[in-house]
Amino acid sequence: MEMLGEARLAAPREQVWMALNDPQVLQASIPGCESLQGSGDDAFQASVVSSIGPIKARFAGRLSLSNVQAPRSYTLRAEGAGGAAGFARADIEVSLEAVEPRLTLLRYKVQATVGGKLAQLGSRMVDAAARKSAEDFFARFGAQVAALAGAGPQPAPAAPDLQALAGAPAAIGGATGGTDGQAAPPPAAGARAAAGPVAASPEEVAGVLASEHIQVWIADHIALVTLNRPRSRNAMTLAMWRSMPAIMAALERNREVRAVLLCGAGGDFCAGADISEFAQVRDDTAQAHAYELAVDACCDAIAGLAKPTVAVLRGYCLGGGAHLAMSCDLRFAAADAVFGIPAARLSIIYGVHGTRRLLALVGLAQAKKILFGAQRFDAEEALRIGFVDQVAGAGAPARGSWWSRWRGRAAPRADVMTQARDFARTLADNAPLSIAGAKALLNGMAMGLGALDAGRADALIAAASASEDYREGRAAFAQKRAPRFQGR
Ligand code: COA
Repeated sequence: MEMLGEARLAAPREQVWMALNDPQVLQASIPGCESLQGSGDDAFQASVVSSIGPIKARFAGRLSLSNVQAPRSYTLRAEGAGGAAGFARADIEVSLEAVEPRLTLLRYKVQATVGGKLAQLGSRMVDAAARKSAEDFFARFGAQVAALAGAGPQPAPAAPDLQALAGAPAAIGGATGGTDGQAAPPPAAGARAAAGPVAASPEEVAGVLASEHIQVWIADHIALVTLNRPRSRNAMTLAMWRSMPAIMAALERNREVRAVLLCGAGGDFCAGADISEFAQVRDDTAQAHAYELAVDACCDAIAGLAKPTVAVLRGYCLGGGAHLAMSCDLRFAAADAVFGIPAARLSIIYGVHGTRRLLALVGLAQAKKILFGAQRFDAEEALRIGFVDQVAGAGAPARGSWWSRWRGRAAPRADVMTQARDFARTLADNAPLSIAGAKALLNGMAMGLGALDAGRADALIAAASASEDYREGRAAFAQKRAPRFQGR
């Protein structure tokens, strides 16, 4: 029999990985486990009392680990003999996805077989017992991890260290919350050249380091950029608008990063510009002009990143927040997301760049409806008009837990962050030069502001055709394996 399932654990991936390798945690998680001791070489000896239908037996057995990819995945083989009852064996493939700094998605696949008297019980009874054991195990394991995470030190939110972000990958983990110690791929040289990133000035770096309102966390080649003013629904201050270009420049230069997710802390993406500081920073015409330049510089920096970007939209996404979202390549929304551009309620005109992006996304009539009406619209409407590309729960694969399917309930859908990360992993695996080139061409065509330089487009296409990755892609196809792209 085969079972699939997943569990969301409120702990960093490293902590979950340690728990998965800790004999004490495993013993406390395995139902009926009387003893479990390490026997070297990723193996444990165990004694487990288990009831399968009418048969109750003590199984003496062995747990062994294989395919160990710390801290991401392993296969756990559990095999035990229960004397006259027969034997049971299960191969459990476990993988850990670092969704957020303190949120890990554990996915598992179990293949189980029984023999002897147990096999005579019938597959339905054996399946039910195996499912119950897996359910109990992961419920107990989740509780163990929660207890460990609660007991451990809580990392203070940190402002991004741009020098570390932009520098050697090894330095990133300490500064931004962890790279999980994975090997960094070689530089995406072509991608960097395509974007022509500007170096962050010392003032910019100082400005960002002084702020805790935009956080950056990198894992599995994906940078998660979080707007972090949840009590103000992540409303953007002038300082935040100004600090984003330096962050994007640093991510552009960072070899580790292959894709970027932009999200908001708490339940919202962003309620737009911080109106409460308008009296100080956006009062007269000159200030308003400078303010708009800062907004455009921020959004252009996001749009101009040669690496693919996905906005993860939960709760409110209004005004300047909508501009941030539109500056990303793709927008994944939660079903509860609420959109709107209330400029006509504040008597301001949405900027040229934001208006252009809106027009490119939704077309003339919808852009007028949104701007003139200044009304809010929901995720379903946003998907219908093309403002967002995917809504969690709408059109997403039903990858629910096995017990919900087993009990015939509607399968839960992956949440928006998990969907976005899954997609970002695909982006991170694809050829960086190809994505950077397609992005430059599409954005240039969509913006229509002379942003697409025909000579540059030709140069990008020629560089991709001459790249090592082009040869690698063809070789991988011929050898029927996944390509390993280097970005050059
Ligand atoms: N600027 C500054 N502060 C904002 C803000 C913004 N754009 N959006 C929300 N906040 C603050 C609120 O002032 C409030 O602060 P307080 O607790 O100190 O009073 C806090 O965030 C929570 O918002 P609140 O209005 O109490 O929540 P709500 O659920 O009733 O409404 C919104 C949420 C987002 C609909 C509402 O706050 C709103 O309309 N904000 C302005 C949106 C806007 O016009 N954006 C475009 C700006 S160009």
